[in-house]
Amino acid sequence: MTTADSYNITEIRARFPSLTIKDNDTNRIYLDNPGGTQICTTSLDKIQNYLIRNNANRGGSFRTSIDTETILLDARRAMSEFLNADSEREIVFGQNMTSITFAIARSLAKWIQPEHEIIVTRLDHDGNISPWLQLSNETGAKIRWIDFDPRDCTLSLKDFKKTITDKTKLVAVGYASNSVGTINPIKEITSIAHSVGALVFVDAVQYAPHAPIDVKDIDADFMVCSPYKFFGPHQGVLWGKYELLDKLPPHKVRPAENNPPHKFETGTQSHEGQAGTLGALEHIEWIGKQFGGQYASQFSKMSDRSLHMHCGMAAIQEYEQKLSAHLIEGLQKISEVNIHGITDIQRLDERVPTVSFTVQGYHPRQIAQIMGDNNIFVWDGHYYAIEIINQLGLEKTGGMIRVGAAHYNTIDELDQLLAVLTKSVVKH
Ligand SMILES: Cc1ncc(COP(=O)(O)O)c(C=O)c1O
Repeated sequence: MTTADSYNITEIRARFPSLTIKDNDTNRIYLDNPGGTQICTTSLDKIQNYLIRNNANRGGSFRTSIDTETILLDARRAMSEFLNADSEREIVFGQNMTSITFAIARSLAKWIQPEHEIIVTRLDHDGNISPWLQLSNETGAKIRWIDFDPRDCTLSLKDFKKTITDKTKLVAVGYASNSVGTINPIKEITSIAHSVGALVFVDAVQYAPHAPIDVKDIDADFMVCSPYKFFGPHQGVLWGKYELLDKLPPHKVRPAENNPPHKFETGTQSHEGQAGTLGALEHIEWIGKQFGGQYASQFSKMSDRSLHMHCGMAAIQEYEQKLSAHLIEGLQKISEVNIHGITDIQRLDERVPTVSFTVQGYHPRQIAQIMGDNNIFVWDGHYYAIEIINQLGLEKTGGMIRVGAAHYNTIDELDQLLAVLTKSVVKH
């Protein structure tokens, strides 16, 4: 039986070749993870093996094509187990979250009428806003916005309940914010949305790298995520309830298959990307087997692989909460720093370890540049969450600096960031 302390960061880091790269003898500190994580060896190996040994198109009667089908099916199965979906037939692969969401919005246009309403939130990445604004333009349906509380950057369920009506046909909501890290109460949102007959589309791109997901438990209708944010290659994934995917009209060529998921996978897919996704999921499964035994009782009625992946994500979540607490407490010691988002250490369950802040007297790009000069990689700006920056009134001052930890980051790396920040901005 493993314990929480047995989360072995050295063993985990050894599975990420890029973590050992130095520039001019200086280590790289990757805290740009919300923009895309580093890739693990199991994923790299799967990509390379696929391209060397199995590279072919689907549907042939020869060895590489038959092997391709086997690998793609296993990737789809692993992805459905990662999300605890009913079946691999509910998993659609695509180029990235944004393209998949535009495609689903285009398909949903056939079901939306001018008298309908679509709810979007100001806490979302634009990938879960613009497709719905376009759907509204095309159908005449009205957009209704949910604001967030600027004090802690959380959505208000009270506002949501006031906004939703029986005209609402779709609620688009993020699972976790790519900017301020807030985790939204999507299970409650889904249940309220379903009570008026609305569909729920969840953007889990920033939640998937940080905690276990159970689509059956949440009961939303669609969920999207991107494996390049959880240690794999550039890929997008849609989960959808089978009966909805079955009914929803695709935009496809005539000879392509008519059933989900293939009817939504237009053209030749990135087979190496799907193989790499399988490798990323095997990494998470390995974490579960190595360090996640103690979480097993939280997950019932799952296949072995699904259970290991969920335990792996639970181990990651617990480790990352320590990183969040350390980072927030460290930033709070610098009086020039203003964190936007949840800072209460008792509420770490309500956030992922993505922390955005401004520094009095400094443009966010200046801070990101100082960090870059020290080989510490952080993002600055709006990172496509433009509604958040607008609502916080930061659009004319360069947005925020974002420090986004992942499961391979260390307390020591955060201390190096905090030391550089203190040295650069604190007036002695
Ligand atoms: C919350 C969120 N949603 C959507 C996206 C867009 O994802 P993709 O690059 O896969 O289109 C991102 C990318 O950063 C994101 O953080």
